[in-house]
Amino acid sequence: MLTKFGLRWDTTEGHLQFATEDENGKPIKVYRLARKESLIKECEDSLQRLGTDYIDLYQIHWPDLTTPIEETFEAVAQLLKEGKIRAAGVSNYSVEQMETARKVVPIASNQMPYSMVLRDIEKEVVPYCQAHQMGILAYSPLQRGLLTGKIKPGQEFAAGDHRAGLSQYKPENVRRTNAFLEKIKPLAQEKKATLSQLVIGWTIRQPGITCALVGARNPTQAEENAAAANLKLSAEEITFINNQLAELELVK
Ligand SMILES: NC(=O)c1ccc[n+]([C@@H]2O[C@H](COP(=O)([O-])OP(=O)(O)OC[C@H]3O[C@@H](n4cnc5c(N)ncnc54)[C@H](OP(=O)(O)O)[C@@H]3O)[C@@H](O)[C@H]2O)c1
Repeated sequence: MLTKFGLRWDTTEGHLQFATEDENGKPIKVYRLARKESLIKECEDSLQRLGTDYIDLYQIHWPDLTTPIEETFEAVAQLLKEGKIRAAGVSNYSVEQMETARKVVPIASNQMPYSMVLRDIEKEVVPYCQAHQMGILAYSPLQRGLLTGKIKPGQEFAAGDHRAGLSQYKPENVRRTNAFLEKIKPLAQEKKATLSQLVIGWTIRQPGITCALVGARNPTQAEENAAAANLKLSAEEITFINNQLAELELVK
């Protein structure tokens, strides 16, 4: 069982992550907070909610710039010693931040955004994690739905849907991405897979990537996405996809 800590809805301490509203229009502010007493409390709450004695992988959700990384990971070390967690992980951590955390406690993994159209981590984070035997949990591998091929240029999203503001969702980028997806679609069809499954299959085969965290809005999507784990892709097929990807350039 794995979970995260360090984002709090019930505080005004720490570092503001985002502000939103609940279904009744009541404002909600979410803070990054990773002070010792806060994460010890969060861990107890998680153990209770999950009905378990220990968490296999306990990850900090985002860096909290108001708390020294050392303080956070000294508390994590205490949880490890007490057997409440089995391994420590980070998420959205840079190489420098991982380096600081690793001086306090061994870090098993980093959870980072990664998809065919968002590959920033390949430059520094992936080589660092590989060099230190750390796993990478790739999140948003479908680029929040874009890589399923269903998004249309200029598509409107409901209020509060963050996709509207992402550069990958600019109409020109959606057009270019869809043109790329059309080029790999015959391969998906040949393998009796959907585009989403081909994209997920490619993602989990990238160097250093140990797992893909794929979101789903309903059970059909969840089943389709989970089945991607069984998709076999040869080195030639991966190279074919990479060659098509090399021609895809997104506008800033
Ligand atoms: N550590 C972090 O800071 C962080 C941040 C974000 C996410 N995550 C993790 O990563 C997971 C996945 O991320 P994500 O949900 O943002 O992105 P994603 O996996 O790239 O995209 C998921 C979205 O794509 C659409 N979709 C998924 N499967 C589909 C299918 N088979 N056919 C058609 N549409 C499909 C659904 O949205 P629609 O149907 O509405 O289009 C779904 O919500 C999350 O559950 C979360 O655990 C972590």
